[in-house]
Amino acid sequence: MNRGHTIEKDIERNGAMTNVKNSNDELKNYFNEIIDSISEDLLISDGKGVVVRVSPSFEEFYGIEEKKAIGRTVYELEEEGVFKPSVIARVISRKEKITMTQKDRRNRDILVTATPVFDEAGKLKFVVSFSRDITEMNRLQKRYSGLERKVEKYTVELNRLRREAIPEKNVIWKSTAMEKVMDTIRRVADVDANVLLLGESGVGKTMLAKELHQRSSRSEGPFIDINCAAIPENLLESELFGYEKGAFTGADSRGKTGLMKLADGGTLLLDEISELPLTLQGKLLKAIQEKFVIRVGGTTPIDVDFRLISASNRPLDQYAEEGKFRKDLYYRVNVVNIRVPSLAERENDIIPLISHFTDMFAEKYGMDKQFSPKAKECLVRYSWPGNVRELSNVIERALVTCDGETIQPEDLPEEITTYDAFTASEAAIPEEGLNVLLERVEGAVIRRAYKKYGTTVSVAKHLKISQPTAYRKVRKYIENQSNA
Ligand SMILES: Nc1ncnc2c1ncn2[C@@H]1O[C@H](COP(=O)(O)OP(=O)(O)OP(=O)(O)O)[C@@H](O)[C@H]1O
Ligand SMILES: [Mg+2]
Repeated sequence: MNRGHTIEKDIERNGAMTNVKNSNDELKNYFNEIIDSISEDLLISDGKGVVVRVSPSFEEFYGIEEKKAIGRTVYELEEEGVFKPSVIARVISRKEKITMTQKDRRNRDILVTATPVFDEAGKLKFVVSFSRDITEMNRLQKRYSGLERKVEKYTVELNRLRREAIPEKNVIWKSTAMEKVMDTIRRVADVDANVLLLGESGVGKTMLAKELHQRSSRSEGPFIDINCAAIPENLLESELFGYEKGAFTGADSRGKTGLMKLADGGTLLLDEISELPLTLQGKLLKAIQEKFVIRVGGTTPIDVDFRLISASNRPLDQYAEEGKFRKDLYYRVNVVNIRVPSLAERENDIIPLISHFTDMFAEKYGMDKQFSPKAKECLVRYSWPGNVRELSNVIERALVTCDGETIQPEDLPEEITTYDAFTASEAAIPEEGLNVLLERVEGAVIRRAYKKYGTTVSVAKHLKISQPTAYRKVRKYIENQSNA
């Protein structure tokens, strides 16, 4: 109702009211009926603030009977504390629509909107005010703000944990071979190209993938790592692409977001990509090319935006030649190719890695232990078929099991302390003398052969020695085989 409108005119405009004769009484009857049917709290005063009508819920709202309110002024009611402050009083003085909050007797928050109604001469005739209890809404609002603050706090926390889960500066290297790798990593990190990391198990492919992510513009986004060999083939598809609710028996009834969608805005690492079944290779290729996925059991395309890093310890190019891996997918994932050299190819990294892991595990277990120079020499000489992971495991075990403060060669696993004649570099001449050295080599060969062939007959055959000699040597070098 705006300035200049009259109630009579408003009612006339209403189609349902066209038959109403304009007699004042009849109008009043309809008017009263309308007000009685209103479930919200309504109060009408005349232009001087005298209450002329209230709706049935007024009493419940303000705790005062209708008949006790009618005829009183809003100024009196305000003074008695029925409502505070009176909005109507303000509308009367300002002659415009006002919305504000009030407190009622029970200290509830009430939202009131009061509107002036003028007669044709522009004189204030009525003030109509609507009230609503917003205590609950305010309570929810407060809770909502509280939750919003919590979400904000958790987001900050989550990002912090993410950063911690991907430590920034712990790729350790010194060798030129690794310097080249790190150089490539630095150069391609911020180019959004797909990267293929190749190298033996344990050389640090996963770690370098994290390093790439960390150095890229996507570092604030998620880093999702999935091992294609570790997940059963029938689950891999729904893990990667997600599924709709009820897509298959045993599926979560709410459906599931796939890892590709989870990697949105970040990096997806497909580890052991050579193990991806051919059917999924096609689906992956499509997802990479078209940048959307369709969930299992679904039809709607879902946009995905991730940087793909693939890793493999298999010769993927050969797989592609042999038809074990889709060629088109191979070209797609192999835009940038990084071969991570085995630890044996980068001997210069071993000493810095020993220091790194010693510090790391010493801190983890709250101890202060060091490797003796001789023990270090053994570690440097060893061939490390399990690469950095094996080195890390050996150091952790030695730290935990060694009693003294200095770790000696005796504290290391036998295969490491045994001089490895097959991989020893020319420079590595041990000071113990030839006989001790030959015995070690012999012992190592016998142990390996016995482990591999299981019987002295077979050992004799493969090592081209007589069976009694094999028997004797197994007894000599394998402690618990003294009855061999
Ligand atoms: N240069 C390095 N500096 C420090 N730690 C390293 C380095 N390289 C590897 N590591 C550590 O060695 C372990 C094995 O590395 P990672 O898991 O990255 O190897 P991987 O090549 O991915 O192995 P897999 O083929 O089995 O997946 C990890 O604990 C990693 O943190
Ligand atoms: Mg890995």
